[in-house]
Amino acid sequence: MEEKVISKAVISRLPRYYRYLGELLESGVERISSNELSTRMKVTASQIRQDLNNFGGFGQQGYGYNVKYLYTEIGKILGIDRQHNLIIIGSGNLGQAIANYANFEKRGFLIKGMFDINPRLIGLVVRGIEIRSVDDLEQFIVDNQVEIAALTIPKSKATEIADRLVKAGIRAIWNFAHVDLNVPDNVVVENVHLSESLMRLSYRMCSLDKGKDLDEAD
Ligand code: NAI
Repeated sequence: MEEKVISKAVISRLPRYYRYLGELLESGVERISSNELSTRMKVTASQIRQDLNNFGGFGQQGYGYNVKYLYTEIGKILGIDRQHNLIIIGSGNLGQAIANYANFEKRGFLIKGMFDINPRLIGLVVRGIEIRSVDDLEQFIVDNQVEIAALTIPKSKATEIADRLVKAGIRAIWNFAHVDLNVPDNVVVENVHLSESLMRLSYRMCSLDKGKDLDEAD
């Protein structure tokens, strides 16, 4: 497929298309029109056509979209058509909750190791994944071709650990610590902040009270 620059807004919607298409595939649906997809996803059909036209050739007049093809192509665009090795730094409540969630593996994200500084946690095993000392971080990254690190440590430690990760050659940081990280251009950071999501929810709830529905349908 021809490479072209796709807007961030479109990219942000792709995981949701991917999820819906995966569900359709599982229920044996082979093709779907933008109108049907629109009803299911509560997104306008024109938005769907516009989004998917970015990738060219997915839809056919009178036929709709080939679900398997679209699912596979979106998977390739998202880079989840191959395995990514991941580690978790900080093996407390959140780190262990992520490790216990087996579904990331279905998407190709393989949790190779967990790290902590707490001697009481080091050596424990969570769903088959050993918690190691953070002293072993750099060597482990190299030995296991780790691309992604989830940061679930206190924010006061996040910058120092992020610098170490960058030096060790990590390519992506999934940042849960409430701090903005400065990393070089060849490293990507995705911030995940549940409290921000909760504040957006609160905002929308209050907007509803004032008679406005600002639903983003996601
Ligand atoms: P926790 O205290 O249960 O776990 C933190 C773990 O990090 C501890 O086991 C601690 O020993 C370890 N740690 C501390 N310094 C370290 C270092 N330099 N290297 C490796 N491990 C280190 O805390 P919890 O609840 O798991 O939260 C972890 C972080 O995630 C906090 O920064 C918290 O604010 C944040 N958080 C973010 C959320 C989000 O939506 N982004 C939601 C919940 C928590």
